[in-house]
Amino acid sequence: MARVALVTGGQRGIGAAISEGLKAAGRTVVASYAGNDEAARAFTERTGIPCYKFDVADYDACAAAVQKIQAEVGPIEILVNNAGITRDATMKRLSRQMWEDVIDTNLGSCYNMCKLVWDGMTERKFGRIVNIGSINGQAGQYGQVNYAAAKSGIHGFTKALAQEGARASITVNAIAPGYVDTEMVRAVPPDVLEKIIAKIPRGRLGTAQDIARGVAFLTADDADFITGSTLSINGGQHMY
Ligand SMILES: NC(=O)c1ccc[n+]([C@@H]2O[C@H](COP(=O)([O-])OP(=O)(O)OC[C@H]3O[C@@H](n4cnc5c(N)ncnc54)[C@H](OP(=O)(O)O)[C@@H]3O)[C@@H](O)[C@H]2O)c1
Repeated sequence: MARVALVTGGQRGIGAAISEGLKAAGRTVVASYAGNDEAARAFTERTGIPCYKFDVADYDACAAAVQKIQAEVGPIEILVNNAGITRDATMKRLSRQMWEDVIDTNLGSCYNMCKLVWDGMTERKFGRIVNIGSINGQAGQYGQVNYAAAKSGIHGFTKALAQEGARASITVNAIAPGYVDTEMVRAVPPDVLEKIIAKIPRGRLGTAQDIARGVAFLTADDADFITGSTLSINGGQHMY
């Protein structure tokens, strides 16, 4: 039976490409999303991949969703923590709410989702977890104290959990994308974006498929010896 993969935020942007890449790799894929019903409906119609709506920052909502997915589709053996948000502001304007929203959605979600699939993976002695970090968690970024802290936290989270999972053949890795052409990046003012692209040695933004390729690689059944690593996919912008 095909292994079940859950991709959070898996119906648009980078997550959509990850979901489609895993489906192409023969996985039974399930995507989650926060509230964009229209994108979810269109995605399911186009790909046949079912979407489940729940807030990854809310532990109880995650618990209910994981239970439902496992009852309807099967045990989750591959988890991609991709859902994320930005709430950019310099420290002067960074409210406590903006801090909490970004930490809870980007980093708290990794705890919520990993916690809920961990026992099953441990019992079955197989698991593949990929957490989506960011170049800005590695290098920092002006106006992104909250986001850089959350993404940097993901990289530490990954290395610690990888040590706990290794004996049970659960691998835990992170991907640190550079700037990828999605709605998140299209929200950046054009003059700023131009300056960003000028700093990418490869001379272009990444594509969602560039990141999806990394996820398929790290979640392969035979990727058993790769754990605790952070794969930078950034066109050479930051060599970490
Ligand atoms: N784009 C980049 O250049 C870039 C670079 C480095 C890292 N990343 C990271 O890559 C990941 C995907 O980025 P993207 O650009 O593809 O983002 P995106 O286009 O804005 O999509 C974000 C996805 O996350 C979901 N989501 C957001 N908050 C959620 C919540 N509380 N609960 C459940 N789902 C939630 C969204 O669902 P709805 O559609 O329902 O809102 C959507 O599916 C993020 O973790 C991001 O930080 C992106």
